[in-house]
Amino acid sequence: CGIVGYIGSSNARNIIIEGLEKLEYRGYDSAGITLYNLSSNLFNIYKDIGRVSTLSKTTHNILSNIGIGHTRWATHGKVNAVNAHPHQSSSGRYIIVHNGVIENFKQLKNQYLKNHTFISETDTEVIAHLIDSFSTIMDVEKSIVSTLNLLQGSYALLIIDNKDPNTIYAAKNKPPLIIGKDEEGVTITSDILALAGYAKTYHVLADKTFVVSQKDSVKLYDYDLNEIQVQFEEFNFDIKSSEKGIFEHFMLKEIHEQPTVIRRIMKGYIHDSSININQSLLNDLKQSSRIYILAAGTSMHAGIVGKKIIEDLIKKPVEVHIASEFAYNTPLIDPNAFFILISQSGETADLRTCLTKLKKQDYKTLTITNVITSTLARESLYALEIFAGPEIAVASTKAYVAQIAMLFILAYALSDKAIDIQYELSKTAQAMENFLLSDSHIRDLVVKYINTKHAFYIGRGMDYATSLEAALKLKEISYIHTEGFAAGELKHGTIALIEDKTPVIAIISHESINLNTRSNLEETVSRGAIPIVITLESLKSDGDDIILEDVHPLLTPILTILPAQLIAYYASYELGYDIDKPRNLAKSVTVE
Ligand code: G6P
Repeated sequence: CGIVGYIGSSNARNIIIEGLEKLEYRGYDSAGITLYNLSSNLFNIYKDIGRVSTLSKTTHNILSNIGIGHTRWATHGKVNAVNAHPHQSSSGRYIIVHNGVIENFKQLKNQYLKNHTFISETDTEVIAHLIDSFSTIMDVEKSIVSTLNLLQGSYALLIIDNKDPNTIYAAKNKPPLIIGKDEEGVTITSDILALAGYAKTYHVLADKTFVVSQKDSVKLYDYDLNEIQVQFEEFNFDIKSSEKGIFEHFMLKEIHEQPTVIRRIMKGYIHDSSININQSLLNDLKQSSRIYILAAGTSMHAGIVGKKIIEDLIKKPVEVHIASEFAYNTPLIDPNAFFILISQSGETADLRTCLTKLKKQDYKTLTITNVITSTLARESLYALEIFAGPEIAVASTKAYVAQIAMLFILAYALSDKAIDIQYELSKTAQAMENFLLSDSHIRDLVVKYINTKHAFYIGRGMDYATSLEAALKLKEISYIHTEGFAAGELKHGTIALIEDKTPVIAIISHESINLNTRSNLEETVSRGAIPIVITLESLKSDGDDIILEDVHPLLTPILTILPAQLIAYYASYELGYDIDKPRNLAKSVTVE
């Protein structure tokens, strides 16, 4: 799930290990590295399941000027040391690391590599074997591009030829790959975070680019080996924004950053109460008759909130679709549609598939993202940045609230409603801050009810959308089975799961549904549930557990999610889990 390669006069081992550590947040289950050992003059491979810290210990005294490293999130083959990267060709000559999935790997094996013995169950090994076979009849560059021309699927690849310890080869199609340079050397990585400290300039590779990189030269080619000239941009990255600071975990830091994130996005888009958004984007949105929002995971939940905001403010129908469903089970589309893709990373493969299909049909597209250099941002017609800063914890928090704020600002820019947007967003940021200053009762609540197998969040309308996100947060990092439910729907089946002492958390932020949701909560109490209420000052009743300040009715989801994020955080904390790196999950899923 992450790649770092280095060639230069600094110690490659340190740069690669440090880079892989910075990429840990993306989620992985094994890690590996190959380094050219300057004392033995050989490339050695180290790989195993588990953490980069293990790799760091095994390699700690190696001095090297070239190497490639990888963290793997299993797609083909079990999580074990053999399937971990790097992989080698059968002769041992080529050593490679790969992100992505080679869809035609079985066909390639049958067609070109019939007599080859494979050590791992991965699709990646096929690439190394193919390059090796070609290099019996052609030079290295030609062998690599001949292989690349056969691959179908997605890949970010780094390749080392152990006959030449002065060159790293790279190529990519779909997953990101970025090259950073300074006077000391060249770093190639899947994540800009790994460049911090090791790049003065950088370049984000376009799909189907082949790279030949040496200590002081980087050459780019297409797959016919025609050289491509590109401009390297200046690398300005605030390294502090990717550090934990005073917080014990990135997730807690990111939860506490949320009021600042709201203020930052305001600064980015609101100037003296007028909205600074590309006019042709606004015109295209105005002229469309239906808006489609496509996203995955937490971003999809932000999309559900966004639908309500947009429909309320501009009275235009909005449909929200799960990207992986939309990609292959495309619904009937309004001919006058406009598409909004929401993606924190801007790299989610499910969305990339949707975008490719939409572009073929000339639909207008906007990506709302935290990474403005990302593939989706670059490939869609318009892009809006949410300015949340690097989000390191796998469980998304600050990007979620920033996405909602962005959708609110965008919808406001299109609406004729009289809202004092500066005031309403500032008030929400202040209410968030006030709540976060006094959150100790959340931890007490968690400690009291932590011994449960199941939990439920319920709500109606916008609170239903928040319930979905709240439940996702709790289950993904505490592994307590949690569902988010439309409060009125629970009684039609799922209420059967309520047992004695099952926590049911009701989110109530609108007068119109206050009493109904409370009745639904009562129905679960009659069956043994422990009720917990998250509500607003103006709606509170005796015994309610978490009371938040009132904010604009369309902005309540930005506020009501905070207690749920903290409940998830403390539940994971109390249960002793790795909060920032939950099992089985990846931050950015670049495979479909
Ligand atoms: C992964 C992450 C989720 C995230 C989803 C969509 O599954 O674990 O936290 O919501 O991808 O990611 P995106 O970067 O497109 O928002």
